[in-house]
Amino acid sequence: MNFTGRYPNSRPRRLRQHDWVRRLTRENRLSVDDLIWSLVVHEGVEPEIPVASMPGTARLSVRAAADAAKRAAKLGIPSIAVFPFIDGAKKDASGKEALNPNGLVCNAVRAMKDAAPEVGVMVDVALDPFTDHGHDGLLRDGRILNDETVAVLTEQALIQVKAGADIVAPSDMMDGRVGAIRTALDANGHQDTMIMSYAAKYASAFYGPYRDAIGSGKLGTGSVANPGDKRTYQMDYGNTDEAIREVAMDVAEGADMLLVKPGLPYLDIVARVKAEFGMPTYAFQVSGEYAMMKAAAANGWLDENRAIIESLTAFKRAGADGIVTYFAPRAAELLG
Ligand code: PBG
Repeated sequence: MNFTGRYPNSRPRRLRQHDWVRRLTRENRLSVDDLIWSLVVHEGVEPEIPVASMPGTARLSVRAAADAAKRAAKLGIPSIAVFPFIDGAKKDASGKEALNPNGLVCNAVRAMKDAAPEVGVMVDVALDPFTDHGHDGLLRDGRILNDETVAVLTEQALIQVKAGADIVAPSDMMDGRVGAIRTALDANGHQDTMIMSYAAKYASAFYGPYRDAIGSGKLGTGSVANPGDKRTYQMDYGNTDEAIREVAMDVAEGADMLLVKPGLPYLDIVARVKAEFGMPTYAFQVSGEYAMMKAAAANGWLDENRAIIESLTAFKRAGADGIVTYFAPRAAELLG
C-alpha cells in the first residue's frame, strides 16, 4: 500500500462520523452464511443437559438435535458440526464404539438430515469421545500409534458418511489421515463427500471446557503409559511454518476445506493459511474462548452480544471464510 495521506489534508475521522458512512466504508462483515454451529449430543432422552463449564450450551438428545437442525435452517445457518458425549460404559482403550453404525453420532446425523436436509452436517473424525484414556488415537506403551489409528479413523469416517454426513472433519492430527479417508470414500462411491481438515490444530489449554462437555476420558497424569496431554500429535503453539507444512500436506491429500484451531489466539495462522493457499479456510472458536466470554459477561465485565459479533467479525477480517462456534444460533439471531 502506498498511502501517503498527511494531516490535515487527510482526516481519517471524516469517515467515522455517522453510522451510514461507517457502514459504507466497512471492509469486512459477518453474515449468517459464515456460521457453523458446533453442538454436543448425548444418548439419553433428556432433551437438554446443561454443560456447567459452558453456560448457555447443553448436550442435546438426538431428538433435540433434530430440532436444532430445524432451528438452524430457519435461522439460515448453513451447517452444524456434531460432537458426541458417549456413556462411560461404552468406552474402551480401542474406542470401538466409534465404529458402531447405530451409535450416537450416526443416529444424530440421520435424525438431523431427516429433519432439515438443507443443513450441512459435519462430523468429527477422532477417537477421543470413545476412548477411556481420552486420546484421539490408539495408545500403546504410552505412544499414540499413527498408522493403526488412521486405519480406524478411515472406517469411522466411512460409517459416518453412510449415515448421511455431508462433511467429514478429521480433528485427530494423525499424519496421512486425509489421504486415507479420501481414498476410502472414493473407493466406496462417496467421491462427492467433502473433507474439512483440522489442518493446523494446536495442543491447547483452550479445549478444557469441551472435554467436560463430551465427558472425555481423563488424560493420564503424564505417566509413561498414559501421556497427560496431546503434544505428540497436536501442534506446538510456538510454531507457524509448521502449520503451513501441515496444510500443504492436507491439501495434497485431498482436503476441500481447511480448519485452524483454536480461533482468536491463532488469527495469525488463519491469515497466513488463507494468504498462502487461497483455500476455503475456517476457524474454530473453541470451548475455552466461549467460556471466557460467558464468564466475563456473567460478571458484567463485557457486553456479551457486542463481544460475540466483534470476535466473529475478527475471524472474517483475518481471512476466514467461516467460523465454527457455539455462539452460532445467538449470532444468527443478532444478525437477523
Ligand atoms: C478432539 C477435539 C477437541 C475439540 C474438538 N475435537 C479437543 C481436543 O483436541 O482435545 C475441541 C473443541 C472445543 O474446545 O471447542 N478430537
